[in-house]
Amino acid sequence: MSMGSICLTILRPGLCAGLLAASGGFCGLRAEVPLVQATVFKRDILPVLEQACIGCHGPRKARGGLRLDSREAAMAGGDSGSQAISVNRPEASEVLRRIKLPRDHDDAMPPQNKPGLAPGEIAAMQVWIAAGAPWR
Ligand code: HEC
Repeated sequence: MSMGSICLTILRPGLCAGLLAASGGFCGLRAEVPLVQATVFKRDILPVLEQACIGCHGPRKARGGLRLDSREAAMAGGDSGSQAISVNRPEASEVLRRIKLPRDHDDAMPPQNKPGLAPGEIAAMQVWIAAGAPWR
C-alpha cells in the first residue's frame, strides 16, 4: 500500500487535500500527526479570530454583515454573498482570500489600518479550513 492510499484510507479527502497542500505533496502517516496537531481550533484558530476578527465580526459589530463568533454565523457568510468559509475548500473561502491579500489591498482583512495575520496564522487557517473547519 502506498503512502497515498494510506492517507486516503485514514483521512477524509478534504483533510488529505489540505495535508497535501501544506506538506508540499507528501501526505502520509508521518505527516498527519504534526499537521493535525498544528491546527487545533481552540489553540490556533479561535485566539486569532478573537484577537483579529471578532471585534468587527461578532456580537457588537457585524461589519459587512459577517459574524465570525460561531460556526453557524461564519457559514452563513456576509453581505457579499461569497462563501466566507467553504468547508474543506480554503481556495474557495473568502476569509482565506482576504487574509492572504497584500496589506495595502482594499479587501485585505483585518483592514489596512490593523496589523495583518502572521504567516503561521494564515497557514493554520488554511489547514483548518481544509480539515473541515471544526469549531471545537
Ligand atoms: C476593524 C474592523 C475589522 C476587522 C478587525 C476585520 N474586519 Fe472583516 N470586514 C470589515 C468591514 C468594514 C467589512 C465590509 C467591507 C468589505 O467587504 O471590505 C469586512 C468584510 C469582511 C468579509 C466579507 C464579508 C462579506 O461577505 O461581505 C470577510 C470574509 C471578512 N471581513 C473577514 C475578516 C477576517 C477573517 C478578519 C480577521 C482576520 C476580519 N475580517 C477582521 C471590518 C473588519
